Amino acid sequence: MGKKLRSQEWFGKTGKDGFIYRAWMKNQGIPDYEFRGKPVIGICNTWSELTPCNAHFRELAESVKIGVREAGGFPVEFPVISLGETLMKPTTMLYRNLASMDVEESIRANPLDGVVLLCGCDKTTPSLIMGAASVNLPSIVVSGGPMLTGKYQGKDIGTSDLWRFDNAIRSGEMTEEDLSVAEACMCRSRGHCAVMGTASTMACMVESLGLSLPGNAAIPAADSRRKVLAQLSGIRIVEMVKENLRMSDILTRHAFENSIIVNAAIGGSTNFIIHLLAIAGRIGVKLELEDFDRYSRAVPLVANLQPSGKYFMEDLYYAGGLPAVMKELDLHLRHDVITANGKSLRENYQSAECYNRDIIATAKDPFNALSGVAILRGNLCENGAVIKPTAASKHLMTHRGKAVVFEDIDDYKNRIDLPNLEVDETSILVLKNVGPIGYPGMPEVGNMGLPRKLLAKGVEDMVRISDGRMSGTGFGTVILHASPEAARGGNFAVVKTGDEISLDVPNRTLTLHVSDEELAKRRGNWKPIHKEYDRGYVRLYQRHVQQAHLGVDLDFLHGSSGDEVSRDSH
Ligand code: FES
Repeated sequence: MGKKLRSQEWFGKTGKDGFIYRAWMKNQGIPDYEFRGKPVIGICNTWSELTPCNAHFRELAESVKIGVREAGGFPVEFPVISLGETLMKPTTMLYRNLASMDVEESIRANPLDGVVLLCGCDKTTPSLIMGAASVNLPSIVVSGGPMLTGKYQGKDIGTSDLWRFDNAIRSGEMTEEDLSVAEACMCRSRGHCAVMGTASTMACMVESLGLSLPGNAAIPAADSRRKVLAQLSGIRIVEMVKENLRMSDILTRHAFENSIIVNAAIGGSTNFIIHLLAIAGRIGVKLELEDFDRYSRAVPLVANLQPSGKYFMEDLYYAGGLPAVMKELDLHLRHDVITANGKSLRENYQSAECYNRDIIATAKDPFNALSGVAILRGNLCENGAVIKPTAASKHLMTHRGKAVVFEDIDDYKNRIDLPNLEVDETSILVLKNVGPIGYPGMPEVGNMGLPRKLLAKGVEDMVRISDGRMSGTGFGTVILHASPEAARGGNFAVVKTGDEISLDVPNRTLTLHVSDEELAKRRGNWKPIHKEYDRGYVRLYQRHVQQAHLGVDLDFLHGSSGDEVSRDSH
């Protein structure tokens, strides 16, 4: 093993200190030999009954423990704050950085040599990786896996259908009774959202970065092979500790580029951008917003998955999983990267097979030649904005229209369905103050619902712009992450109803057709309308959170404090 185990700074001590470190642990029925030089593996668990997507994680942790013990390690499971996407208000994104701090400090403060990160629901993945990266111990991710595909009236359904149901209810095509039946049909098994939403995007990010064993991304939560993967990951983390294979060995610049390429090919969520930027910031890799456009431009969309396509994560697994997707991308991917199992990414995918070309197309004959995200620039978003072309309408990719501006989410909710709202299908809906500081927490409201009167006319999409995010399950011609956000007082803060805006996705521009003089005048008269919090975590967050183009991390959390063992507590 070479280097002395970090955990021996606790359990290897003699005298009073060693007594204290071991004696209280022994109240759990742990024999003395467990403390004598075995790699101590922390299992960082985001289990919570308030995070339904992760509610099966105690069982998953048991499988990890079997593997750790089998390999000669000593497993210890510990909880961290769990971020349940569907229940937490105002938005889990507000707490992602808090969770990452919990993870970082929990790992560093405890006698751990390696960590298994149990991740599932959207923010539970980036927060755990960000926290662990700031300690940089050997770490492996086990994702919880997607739910089985929902079944409703003979059709497959998933989270993306929620937006369709919402429009159908508002246009009168669906009744509340229908909705209640659909509600019971969608989430019919353990696991996270079954489409290529943020959780699945994050699971694919993990596998493409090399932070998990191959196959981790797509095995359904209810499939017995998910437990097998957890057990094998338990075995592997003990070996990683012995090899001193750390997160920084895996998370190189090329690993990040690979992840961007894979995310493009699967039609991953726009949230990927924010989370990958934040992870890169923690591990010390320079990554910029333009990189997401640059590395995904030539990549075809090969996975036919909702919301960009037709199928579900369960289907992806049966078709060959993410390794079969990555095999199609061989020409695009960097090969000098190592993954958690000690092999290169290429070694992991080269024997993969595709069993269904309707789900995983070839790179030569892709499901869509267009993929990834486009990074827009212009006077409406000086630091950039994001659009996902595969989720947008072709006829709106180049569009000029008049803005209908909502100053904040309440203004939007109060006016969007008013019969006298001056809006038509050529209008551009603009929603302000849903950014990191303004909301606060940058919620997923960017794919705002269309005005009821236009839905009734059969309008299905309009250009929408905000400083917020969109659910990975959402779709439409939706421009997100406008930076700087309205709460910062840039041009986005002073756009008015009636202003003309043009979107040109092929040329990557978003332009507000208002003169520089007029904009300067408006900025001079601008006053913030968002609430400023004066205590607790939210105060800390509002004062230190960075803008979307930097990853929305807290400015003082960039980088790593390492795994240094601090002084004894007694
Ligand atoms: Fe948890 Fe979608 S709500 S992954």
